[in-house]
Amino acid sequence: MIALGSDHGGYELKQEVKKHLDELGLAYHDYGCDSTEATDYPIYAKKVANAIVNGECEKGILICGTGIGISIAANKVKGIRCALCSDCFSAEATRLHNDANILAMGGRVVGPGLALKIVDTFLNTPFSGDERHVRRIAQIEE
Ligand code: RB5
Repeated sequence: MIALGSDHGGYELKQEVKKHLDELGLAYHDYGCDSTEATDYPIYAKKVANAIVNGECEKGILICGTGIGISIAANKVKGIRCALCSDCFSAEATRLHNDANILAMGGRVVGPGLALKIVDTFLNTPFSGDERHVRRIAQIEE
């Protein structure tokens, strides 16, 4: 199960991501928001982050206007490794090296075509499991 969340700045791109996941037959839960009416991104960052640390969902996708605020807020939750990506190289590297469990994007930064490629890369790339990366991730949690 994939946890989705956005504020108003990410709402429209989140709708594109949902359509894409529907086409791929991938299950998701949308933790809000539900419109382009102005709201506060930490609400949705925390809902999605908690769904992952509780085990309700395996991975998450968070979108705000820039992706910055929502990723900062998600990374406050212990156990969350939220990576803000605007390119496929970073999306692949953060799965291989950081075992990132949430992808953040900026709805005002990336267009839907690139965003959906970033989503695919993030979801389809496994963690490398290399000892050096396991060690560094453990150091984050110390
Ligand atoms: C909302 O206008 C905007 O500040 C928010 O979506 C995000 O970009 C914050 O980092």
